[in-house]
Amino acid sequence: MYRPKFEHYLDPGGGLAKDRATSEPTSPSASELAISPVMTSPPSPSRRSAVAPFLAMDVLREARELERQGRKIVHMELGEPGAPAPLAVRDAAAEALRKGVIGYAEALGQADLRERIARHYAKEYGVDVAPARIVVTTGSSGAFLLSFLAAFDPGARIAITAPGYPAYANILESLGLEPVVVEVGPQTRYAPTAALLEAAHKERRIDGALLMSPANPTGAMIAAEELARICAFCDEAGILFLSDEIYHGLAYETRCETALRFSQRAVVINSFSKYYAMTGWRLGWLVAPETLVRPIERLQQSLAISAPTLAQAAALAAFDATAELEAIKASYARSRALLVDRLPRIGFTDFAPPDGAFYIYADVSRFTGDSMAFCKRVLEEAGVATTPGVDFDRSRGARTLRFSYAGPESEIALGVERLAAWLRR
Ligand SMILES: Cc1ncc(COP(=O)(O)O)c(C=O)c1O
Repeated sequence: MYRPKFEHYLDPGGGLAKDRATSEPTSPSASELAISPVMTSPPSPSRRSAVAPFLAMDVLREARELERQGRKIVHMELGEPGAPAPLAVRDAAAEALRKGVIGYAEALGQADLRERIARHYAKEYGVDVAPARIVVTTGSSGAFLLSFLAAFDPGARIAITAPGYPAYANILESLGLEPVVVEVGPQTRYAPTAALLEAAHKERRIDGALLMSPANPTGAMIAAEELARICAFCDEAGILFLSDEIYHGLAYETRCETALRFSQRAVVINSFSKYYAMTGWRLGWLVAPETLVRPIERLQQSLAISAPTLAQAAALAAFDATAELEAIKASYARSRALLVDRLPRIGFTDFAPPDGAFYIYADVSRFTGDSMAFCKRVLEEAGVATTPGVDFDRSRGARTLRFSYAGPESEIALGVERLAAWLRR
């Protein structure tokens, strides 16, 4: 029977020519397959792939190497909860596995999970969000990719902070978008402000602003009134505001406020990785303005098809695992209190306000002018893994260090003891 087979081929000019039909292929003979090897140069990487390495991961590699050599290393480098996902989440995953129905999910996400996330906004923030605006993604990392692609054309300029989460600039640069770095410091409690954005915008137009609260690496939060001002400024100036709310739920002194309260235009990005302790499940979500939902759906259909179905089934249980999650948070709060008390006593007197998340971003300029070299020494000599500030701030990070207290409390206490003993020496 004749079945047309469509194949694409490159036309002699190098462009993609139209589809053409060919008849059923005949099997190539053995001699046709015996292609003699041609000497070619190895493929060279693209310019867009030349993103900066994530040094926390490099530190992790070295720490693991020391562990293989038999050393006990205290991990204060990674922003990863030491606790496993809540039991109810793991039970829900086991049940889904037992049933075995783990096919593709809809590109926008499972309807029941999108509805559950909408209820979360109503309960936690008193904000009404239509499930139709919610997209379930492969972690917040997947949400960045989708929203950047859906909202910006190559060359668009997006404001981000320094210090800030290193992947922001890397993802933007790999997509041909331009990160516009807005430096934050003690003058604004390490939080970005509408005035700082306005100044950057006046200098040269920006198309978007991607901010987080609580922030990585500082833990600093944007006060609710300032968040309202940022939303108003961005909306009026036609700047797309993207609010990374991944550390919501992990604030120790004030409540987290969502940008959805102040703007219908903002894109809000969140994840099950941090408060819900589900890093490896690779599940997050975004809330988009209606105009961006269908473009995001089309992109997701092609880029990931859907977020992982098993993780979606499990995540449904996460919102009701409050007792377990609050116990994990209470353990972070104790580690935070320990560090806030002990770090200044051993010489780390100056750090950003650790309002939330699970980080302390400390000035180390009295010890070193090279945070990477300092981190290496702390790792090799004290057996404590930390992250150098250069990961988060390309221009000022040689004088800073990030301590993560996401790990087990006993480890954090041991880490401080080791640092104290090492510094005494
Ligand atoms: C501020 C911030 N946003 C996003 C992410 C990425 O998280 P995920 O892709 O696991 O949701 C991280 C991870 O550390 C982060 O610190």
